[in-house]
Amino acid sequence: MKILVTGGLGFIGSHTVVALNEASHDIVIIDNLINSQKSVLNPLTELCGKEIPFYEGDVQDLAFLETVFKNHSFDGIIHFAALKAVGESVLEPLKYYDNNLNATMALVKMASTYHVPHLVFSSSATVYGDQPSPLKETFSLLPPTNPYGATKQMSESILKDVARSSENFKVTLLRYFNPVGAHESGLIGESPQGIPNNLMPYIVDVALKKRSHLNVYGNDYPTKDGTGVRDYIHVVDLANAHVLAIEKPLETINIYNVGTSKGISVLEMIQAFEKVNQVKVPYSITKRRDGDIAVSYADASKIKKMIGFEAKKTLEDMVKDSYHFAVKNHG
Ligand code: NAD
Ligand code: UFG
Repeated sequence: MKILVTGGLGFIGSHTVVALNEASHDIVIIDNLINSQKSVLNPLTELCGKEIPFYEGDVQDLAFLETVFKNHSFDGIIHFAALKAVGESVLEPLKYYDNNLNATMALVKMASTYHVPHLVFSSSATVYGDQPSPLKETFSLLPPTNPYGATKQMSESILKDVARSSENFKVTLLRYFNPVGAHESGLIGESPQGIPNNLMPYIVDVALKKRSHLNVYGNDYPTKDGTGVRDYIHVVDLANAHVLAIEKPLETINIYNVGTSKGISVLEMIQAFEKVNQVKVPYSITKRRDGDIAVSYADASKIKKMIGFEAKKTLEDMVKDSYHFAVKNHG
């Protein structure tokens, strides 16, 4: 298949490009480099064994998209391109609504004009809000608590409405849990700019002694050790889920959780990181972070039953590959 990957130089997109290439698909990447570097093309060339066609530009820009769609006939689109910082979305909501919604709508217009039959969308477990885990696709969505989450819910609605209204257009909404890790080569991974918001990049910075210690946001949650519990999934597993998802659009609308069905606490993550990488991660317990929930993990049985995806990598793989990439690139 010939697949357009938007945001293909980002964290999850770059790993998905490698996975699609391994599955013998042809790929075209669009990225405007707002949260990535053009230099990611070098390791992608190395890992794919060939150059992947790349267009630098904004997915919101219909004239730019026309030039791409005129040059290629796509069998599917995987749409990663979005802004994703929850805190920033509260401070600059319009930036998020603008980018994330306009990009989705522009792509859908192109898909309709150029008869692309299927789009896979990067959604998030955030659409469930604070409900008891394991979270199932059949749960109702709760009102979003921040503009980023709102753009995911709205994009899901837009895509579902368009798919319902058209004969030849299907959508797959992938609700990711917490992606971590890196390609085992250490050539591609996650490189957040500035102070990391997320747990794994922060742990990595502390292990590299770029920051003195990790702040653990609360140890008074109703969980096994009082710290927050999440469903961490290795980014290479997540990338492989996209390959199956783009190959198998079973229904007009397909909605799948992509997680491991296992909850890991913050302290368990620190312990695994220290043990596997033989490095200290000093931490101190601080107050809860605003907006955090105690527990979020998937019921990931639907995606296994429907398209045969199951996460294979272990927690040890996640901490090892995250650290390996960081040491190799930022150590
Ligand atoms: P990322 O920031 O590393 O990748 C996104 C890429 O899209 C970047 O390379 C960026 O430059 C590009 N981009 C953004 N807006 C664009 C636009 N208008 N035009 C062209 N390119 C644009 O993020 P990621 O972690 O790889 O996330 C990919 C997708 O998965 C996003 O939609 C994100 O919201 C979603 N998601 C991520 C997580 C997570 O924890 N990483 C969790 C759930 C959902
Ligand atoms: N945590 C710390 N210290 C840190 C960072 C995080 O203790 O420095 C804790 C959090 O309190 C939470 C856990 O580690 O218990 C995971 O936090 P992350 O920020 O890594 O991930 P979240 O689950 O909070 O957020 C992620 C994505 C969001 C998305 C959300 C819901 O980053 O984009 O899942 O799907 F909205």
